[in-house]
Amino acid sequence: MTIIDPLTFPPGFLWGAATASYQIEGAAAEDGRTPSIWDTFSHTPGRTRGGDTGDVACDHYHRYREDVALMTDLGLAAYRFSVAWPRVQPGGRGPMNAKGLDFYRRLVDELLERDIVPWVTLYHWDLPQELEDAGGWPARDTAARFADYAAAVHGALGDRVRHWTTFNEPWCSAFLGYASGVHAPGRQHAPDALAAMHHLLLGHGEAVRAIRANDPEAQLGITLNLYAISAADPAKPGDLDAVRRIDGLANRIFLDPVLLGRYPEDVRADLAGVSDFGFVRDGDLETIAAPLDLLGINYYSRHVVAAPDPDAPAEPYWRAPTSWPGSETVRFLKRPGYSVTDMDWEVDAPGLTETLVRVARDYPAVPLYVTENGAAYVDTPGTDGAIDDQERVAYFDAHFRACLAAIAEGAPLKGYFAWSLLDNFEWAWGYSKRFGMVGVDYATQRRTVKASGHRYREVIKRNGLAE
Ligand code: FCB
Repeated sequence: MTIIDPLTFPPGFLWGAATASYQIEGAAAEDGRTPSIWDTFSHTPGRTRGGDTGDVACDHYHRYREDVALMTDLGLAAYRFSVAWPRVQPGGRGPMNAKGLDFYRRLVDELLERDIVPWVTLYHWDLPQELEDAGGWPARDTAARFADYAAAVHGALGDRVRHWTTFNEPWCSAFLGYASGVHAPGRQHAPDALAAMHHLLLGHGEAVRAIRANDPEAQLGITLNLYAISAADPAKPGDLDAVRRIDGLANRIFLDPVLLGRYPEDVRADLAGVSDFGFVRDGDLETIAAPLDLLGINYYSRHVVAAPDPDAPAEPYWRAPTSWPGSETVRFLKRPGYSVTDMDWEVDAPGLTETLVRVARDYPAVPLYVTENGAAYVDTPGTDGAIDDQERVAYFDAHFRACLAAIAEGAPLKGYFAWSLLDNFEWAWGYSKRFGMVGVDYATQRRTVKASGHRYREVIKRNGLAE
């Protein structure tokens, strides 16, 4: 598509914001919801910063109307949220819970009434605890449980929801959940992490098939967290090989099976000491590569990597204090002069352009959506209560420009969801990290639109940037 004005997005570009069930809903034990792995994990001493849990979170379960009104105030055209599996199917198998489904029906109706597209993620990390007790994602049966659940949720909401995402960031579920253990369920067993990865992907493929069979027109996709990756010294073959390895373990190990129907051979070779991939059965990859209508990409930062250096011990992966299978020999470096967010993630907007263009170039054509992008900063409200988060304003601005650059280079980018609508429970970091365009005072549950939210409203209205 030719863009006449370089600061304007193509007509129909979809502007949204994203959240996830456990991060905002609260009401953890209400209306029949049973615990998820995140309830268990967050209630285990030492697992989350300050022992924070999602018991109350933003109390969105009770305040969803107010929150949807905020979306209207910001001018959002779409809202990406997730369904809490243990709320709608307690225990992860068997009958559905009408009260749980009703909550999402009410939420969706409220959105539709306000002309906001509901964009549903079926799994944003809250696996019912009973399924973890039965083996969790390393167990093949969990994939079948997920497909049943997905079909049942689609059965309940499919008349009003057209956009369905199976999984959010299976990399995190598999590797942070089962290898490094910094996310629920907090296990540390590398071979299990790889089995988990495969079963998450299998669950994705089976769910796509099941939903498609009932609703050929549904818009189906998956959301992957992808990274731009570059070499500390591009002149060093060892550093370039570190790029190949980490690109394989972070990006291609998910992109290839989903879009090409195969695991990358070089990554399998890198992981030979961890797993023989014996969990792959005949027909699995065909299922996993079920045709999609769109691909969601979450982008936050870039990895700069280098070869092992006998004089500088391998650095632990920046989000995972222990192992990410296959990455042990790689050094992850910080570049001097780059600003970092409150997560200590380097701000690298050109990496978003690079990621979008790369997916468009290396994989079969599929419409792309940025389903998450955003930044945590320490917000200090002024004496009048206003939150002037100029660093976040700048972060978003740079990434909008990166989207425009990707579109100009031909990437089929169709929409953008900011992370996040609200400050929320940032997993192991609890409430200490704030990502919202709307601030939440957890003591009073008061919402305050930050400067970044006000700016976003202008961008949406203009469908582009002013200068
Ligand atoms: C992503 C998660 C999302 C949020 C952001 C900051 O990995 O999908 O829930 O925590 O990071």
